[in-house]
Amino acid sequence: MILEEILKGYSLPPKLGFGQTLAPVMFRAEYRDGSWDEGELTPYAPISIDPAATVLQYAQQAFEGLKAYKVRQSSPALFRPEMNYFRLRQSSRRMCMPAVPRDVFARGLSEVTMALADFIPGGSGQSLYLRPFLMGTGPCLSVKSSDAFTFLVIASPSDTYFSQPIRVMVEREDCRAAVGGTGADKVGGNYAASLQATTACIELGFDQPLWLDPRERCCIEELSGMNLVAVVDGELHTPRLSGSILPGVTRVSLLELARHQGHTVVERSIPIDELLDDIRSGRCSEFFACGTAAIVAPISAVGERDGSVVELPKTGQMAARLRSAILDIQEGRSDDPFGWMVDAADFEALLFRMSPGPE
Ligand SMILES: Cc1ncc(COP(=O)(O)O)c(C=O)c1O
Repeated sequence: MILEEILKGYSLPPKLGFGQTLAPVMFRAEYRDGSWDEGELTPYAPISIDPAATVLQYAQQAFEGLKAYKVRQSSPALFRPEMNYFRLRQSSRRMCMPAVPRDVFARGLSEVTMALADFIPGGSGQSLYLRPFLMGTGPCLSVKSSDAFTFLVIASPSDTYFSQPIRVMVEREDCRAAVGGTGADKVGGNYAASLQATTACIELGFDQPLWLDPRERCCIEELSGMNLVAVVDGELHTPRLSGSILPGVTRVSLLELARHQGHTVVERSIPIDELLDDIRSGRCSEFFACGTAAIVAPISAVGERDGSVVELPKTGQMAARLRSAILDIQEGRSDDPFGWMVDAADFEALLFRMSPGPE
């Protein structure tokens, strides 16, 4: 009843932005004494947490990001949500947290999305951004894992992340995450470690730092929330998954789409100096970032801290084609030849996709 009233009184603000408008409901499940409860949909509200909780003291946390689309669909549709489930399970294992059961994860996504179905903006590029996350809530000041955990799904009706091509700055000093550390996982600490470089690059007139491999600072890895693809001699080249790169759902989907369209895809180590030479010589005709939030974001310039900048051509045809191809599937304008979309109301279908999954 309370939820119904909250939703009845809710309306979208005229300007959404990305991740700035928080939806009025959330899903919450608790892990206590060795097992998870079923979880429930509740009003969106601050949560109370013990100041000694392991998430606050030692960043014992992991999260996901995915979108529900309702552009041409009659019911909201999710894009490959099982991949987020498996990735959260992987990140949780790395952070020594119990896996959220598939039914709890599926119920969380489905209930939040369906409660908000009338508030999912329907313009192209718009969506309901879903943020499932898991954290250690048990109090403990010695460095060990919590024995209590909270899983939440919050949501944000959103526009696309970037509306303009982005300018990136090569980060040659800091690294965001290590191989053997948490570089391939989606955990908050990686993002906290990226903020110093982000702040510095924004001060210098760029949008995002471009991270290099943490060992040698030689090869390109990713942006702070997106993977990278370069078009070199007409082929798609992307950094191989090195152990310190997040295996993006958008990345793997675009690579599948590109192969399906007959393009050559190469996953390899890409030295930054080679890439810059290829941009200067014109061998690299496009460089773009991809991720759930930004979908496909063309990069217009790659700069350095000393102020030097290499510009890319303005017309990124491959990026534009791939962006349209993936958006057409996500927004229901084209067939879905890979079976990527799933109706958020279809709990059984969601559950089926998450089973059995890699352990
Ligand atoms: C560090 C990082 N790399 C890449 C990505 C892109 O991943 P996805 O396509 O699954 O959103 C993200 C976003 O989740 C990210 O945070």
